[in-house]
Amino acid sequence: MGLGYGGGARTEATVNAIVIYESLTGNTKKAADFIVNELVAGGVQAVACPTTAVDYQALADADLVIVGSWTDGLFLFGQKPASAGRLSQLPFLTGKKAAVYCTYAIETGKTLTKLEDIIRDRGAEVIGGMAIRRNKLQEGSAEFVSRLLGVVAA
Ligand SMILES: Cc1cc2nc3c(=O)[nH]c(=O)nc-3n(C[C@H](O)[C@H](O)[C@H](O)COP(=O)(O)O)c2cc1C
Repeated sequence: MGLGYGGGARTEATVNAIVIYESLTGNTKKAADFIVNELVAGGVQAVACPTTAVDYQALADADLVIVGSWTDGLFLFGQKPASAGRLSQLPFLTGKKAAVYCTYAIETGKTLTKLEDIIRDRGAEVIGGMAIRRNKLQEGSAEFVSRLLGVVAA
């Protein structure tokens, strides 16, 4: 797997990524779109789709699967990834690297860890996760991708 555009002949295959998100009021979708833009700017082919309309071809082609959900809880406790049931029914991700993110307002509690567990149960190797505050979607998404590219390129 290679990252970026060398400018000359490309000797390594491009990384393919898919962002699958669960979003009620649009924040997690917006983050998914920011993440895709950042990935593409970093030389990674990427598409985003909701959990309700997974792009199965893109998923099959993906080396890196990013799964995002929003924090559902009682704001200060009881937080969990929204629609965990739907996330746990994603296709098997065996052999793929995965990363997770959640959007939130105040406090995420164990949302990220729970999301990581769900995705690990689908067979993926989870390489990281990040909580992105809903009033910092663009900055958070950029930081998330910059960390991810560091890990994927290593
Ligand atoms: C029913 C409900 C419960 C929520 N619980 C929490 C919570 O416990 N902690 C938190 O920080 N944000 C909580 N939020 C805020 C959302 O996680 C946040 O607005 C998120 O970005 C929404 O994503 P979406 O726009 O993609 O649906 C809650 C929102 C809703 C609607």
